[in-house]
Amino acid sequence: MSYQRVNHTNEKQIEEVLATLSLEQKIGQLNLIPIEGEVTDEQRELIAQGKVGSVLKSNGAKQNKELQEIAVNNGVVPILFQEDVIHGYKTITPVPLAEAASWDLELIEQAAAVAAKEAAAAGIHLTYAPMVDISRDPRWGRILEGAGEDPYLGALISEKRVRGFQQANDKQEERVLATVKHFAGYGASLAGRDYNIQDISERELREIHLPPFQAAVDAGVSSVMLAYTAYDGTALTANQFLVQKVLKDELGFKGLIMTDWETIPNLLKIGAAENIREATQMAIENSVDMDMTSNAYIDNLAELVASGTVDEALIDESVRRVLRLKQQVGLLDAPFLYFDEAREKATLLSQESKDTALAIARKSMVLLENKAALLPLDKSDEKLKKVAVIGPFAKAQEDLNGWWFAMGKGEDTQNIFDAIAAECSGFDIEVTFSQGVSISKFDKVGEEFITEAVKTAAAADVAILVLGEEHWMSGEGGGTASLHLPGLQEQLVEAISASLTPVVSVIVSGRPYVLTNVASKSTALLQAWMPGTMGGKAVADILFGNYNPAGRLPVTFPYHQGQVPIFYNYKRTSHSFDAGEKDLRYTTTYRDVQSEPLYPFGYGLSYSEFVYSAPTLSATSMTKDGSIELSVTVENSSAVDGVETVQLYIRDEVSKVARPFMELKDFQQVTIPAGKSLTLSFTITAEKLAYIGPNLQSCVETGIFTVFAGPNSYLKGTSTNFTIEKPQEAYAAQFRFV
Ligand code: GLC
Repeated sequence: MSYQRVNHTNEKQIEEVLATLSLEQKIGQLNLIPIEGEVTDEQRELIAQGKVGSVLKSNGAKQNKELQEIAVNNGVVPILFQEDVIHGYKTITPVPLAEAASWDLELIEQAAAVAAKEAAAAGIHLTYAPMVDISRDPRWGRILEGAGEDPYLGALISEKRVRGFQQANDKQEERVLATVKHFAGYGASLAGRDYNIQDISERELREIHLPPFQAAVDAGVSSVMLAYTAYDGTALTANQFLVQKVLKDELGFKGLIMTDWETIPNLLKIGAAENIREATQMAIENSVDMDMTSNAYIDNLAELVASGTVDEALIDESVRRVLRLKQQVGLLDAPFLYFDEAREKATLLSQESKDTALAIARKSMVLLENKAALLPLDKSDEKLKKVAVIGPFAKAQEDLNGWWFAMGKGEDTQNIFDAIAAECSGFDIEVTFSQGVSISKFDKVGEEFITEAVKTAAAADVAILVLGEEHWMSGEGGGTASLHLPGLQEQLVEAISASLTPVVSVIVSGRPYVLTNVASKSTALLQAWMPGTMGGKAVADILFGNYNPAGRLPVTFPYHQGQVPIFYNYKRTSHSFDAGEKDLRYTTTYRDVQSEPLYPFGYGLSYSEFVYSAPTLSATSMTKDGSIELSVTVENSSAVDGVETVQLYIRDEVSKVARPFMELKDFQQVTIPAGKSLTLSFTITAEKLAYIGPNLQSCVETGIFTVFAGPNSYLKGTSTNFTIEKPQEAYAAQFRFV
């Protein structure tokens, strides 16, 4: 039976179910408990009594069906099963920051749809994704989980991920409910330390952190998870301003709100509540509908109602929001719709899943350096007889899957060494291996291995170094003070680069590391991210030219860790940033290192070469109801078809409130055949000029706007030494908004 997604709910049915519930059972609907591994008798009893509304971490159609049978056979409301399906369930796609680097919105939606289909087949109704926290600080371990530093790109991706989870698949039992998280501002955790305070202004909150949440709400996201942190000194769990005024009133969210793991008792830890009873009251009075794993609701709400402190009507409202989600996934009519073991077996790791995983893994990788056009390697080249694959991640498997790998297993992932060996099989090429160094926790292990690795590299015609971080090093709680590759990896690159063998460095990481030393010692450099189940083949496809890299950075790569936080849309300052100033002393630049990043937002190389014309505008002025067409021609001057992501940035030259140096406002990803040119047109409307004005309301002010159409946010040379091929003005045009 195929369920059409219920866009409107059957309120009559909701009321009928609500009327059957005792107060204890109503509170049970708000209770979300973890079941990991064996189910305990106590958990079975709680379910049978209707004291468990939802379960997280229980996986598999078989187990979830058994748990559902306890609920149904005892005549209580069926359970909603939830899981962290962040970038894949069994077939793991690249970490979300990597997927964002594809700038391919349709493919991002498809990846979410594949994850949904696999998770739903395994009896999961709801996922805790998309995570949309904007982050400008690679020290923060969770930067890998979002879509990077830009609110415009982040909002577009947020919408696509919600739709991919909730709507893209044509059957209800192939969809999952999405949860947008972590509301809001979590990505601004101070100093990159997870769970730390976020000391941001309401302006930054609205300009940077809210747009992806607005996009998720507009896309119909089913639930919102509140952040662990506090905004303006008040924990999100109890923050009436952000939840009632902003999330509900302004963004218009009417769905379910849940805590993160045990955040109700956390109110005591930060001194926001004197006891758990008070903390529970603060949460339910802030429309928190589901208590994740703390038991605060199941232990305290009944007494709060009995004592007249909390009105039962408040609980009824929360229960209605829970029942609406259950209704949407068929639980009130067909509680076993999702638990089909045969479908589970046919869906997990299906060819469709793996094809999508390969496509987005290829498209997410960003070519950062390719000096002397070393890449792609030509297997038929007489001089290519030996390829050395070296490094602690050359044979890594689970490290390719990142921090949130759901039910993904390392053994299902082909490692990079094997993929390269497979690519070279059948050719007269020997592929050798050396560990180089090993990274075990934070021990610096491996001096003795470096000598052996240097020998292996020296004996080869090209050395492919696979470096990076272990899958647990990024992710939740993964804050790091150093942004250098862990262990002795930079020493390994240094040692190997002393040989005459050209070096291709491949980086397996969830976060941007400072690759300055690696880049200077490598002939080519590929940011492979944590590319998931098909990541090994994706790397081989790029290195050997089966795929022309198209990734563009969704986040700035710092030149030095002392630059952090560093991002492209910085606010202009009185003493200029531009190193072109005659007197460097009195500028907002560093005395000791360059102030520009190593690689800017939007940057990425291709095996093609793209040459931009100066943009032209259809008019030199525009009114509120009008628009201006920007036209730009991009030539592929190479002999290789390629994909270019043409980016449109706008700068508001004069405004009542300081505006960024430039902001991404549009982009088009196009394939340009070898030797051909393509003329693209962008429509500029007042909406693209709007900003959060002095009164924190959206406004458009008259004045001059500069618009840039180019290959990245710096519109400069595409190499680490930033040879400026053309001044920024060559990519710019101006018009007046009247
Ligand atoms: C974690 C994370 C959240 C996740 C939840 C359930 O602490 O902050 O993103 O969805 O707990 O695992």
